[in-house]
Amino acid sequence: MAFLTCWACVLVGGLSASLTRASDLSDLYPPLWKESPGQLSDYPVENGTYIINPWVFSEKMGVYKILLNKTATYFAKFAPENEQNLLWGLPLQHGWQYTSGRLADPSQRTDCGYESDHLCVSVDSWWADLNYFLSVIPFLAAVDSGVLGISSDQIRFLPPPKDQTRFCYDVSGCHSSFSEIMKKWIDFYQYMKLPTSNFDDLLKYLWDAHTISLKTSVKSFEDRTPFCWVALLAKCINLQ
Ligand SMILES: *[C@@H]1O[C@H](CO)[C@@H](O)[C@H](O)[C@H]1NC(C)=O
Ligand SMILES: *[C@@H]1O[C@H](CO)[C@@H](O)[C@H](O)[C@H]1NC(C)=O
Repeated sequence: MAFLTCWACVLVGGLSASLTRASDLSDLYPPLWKESPGQLSDYPVENGTYIINPWVFSEKMGVYKILLNKTATYFAKFAPENEQNLLWGLPLQHGWQYTSGRLADPSQRTDCGYESDHLCVSVDSWWADLNYFLSVIPFLAAVDSGVLGISSDQIRFLPPPKDQTRFCYDVSGCHSSFSEIMKKWIDFYQYMKLPTSNFDDLLKYLWDAHTISLKTSVKSFEDRTPFCWVALLAKCINLQ
């Protein structure tokens, strides 16, 4: 039960309402889903390495889109049409952050995330910073787990305009900076790939990975926590 409470808590209502009408799947796609890259070849290549800019919302959605596509086969035994893919929660939550303006520069000193530059994901946004650990790192862990069918050095993410040392950009960099998070996500994918994987255990692996991503990032970005969320998140994390 703690899991469910926490899940709802972390999604902060954005998703829970939609889940009740999951049958109406077409309504449920995150914003810009259709327009976002759906395969790695949609991204630029440099020396055989795909280069992804996660500070552009559509490029980041594309990361989720590819991840959902490449993991679909492992969830097919639970439901048709990738409906039970546990990773759907991530792009839906990120979509909510985007449509609610949470990825914009909170200081409003730049246009990042506002009308004239609405796809920009601001490194000054606490939401965007936390989401990095629930998008880029899970994606790189999937690459490292062989889920994408490319080698681990074939993906690189671009750094933000500042605070570059607070993130990691490729598989080896993420292993050295955030080894525990990478490990938990890899555990999830490795279990997912087993023919004997079951839904409940998948949920547990996912939750472990999700929690460590949040714990680490909440702590690391304490300096930009929007005040009203502090208590709620602290509560979420203690619940598990
Ligand atoms: C691509 O590889 C060549 C040869 O190894 C190297 O000189 C060049 O700097 C590389 N370019 C980039 C963008 O990494
Ligand atoms: C994954 O993407 C490929 C290429 O775009 C597409 O042909 C395939 O149907 C997709 N698979 C799923 C399960 O969405």
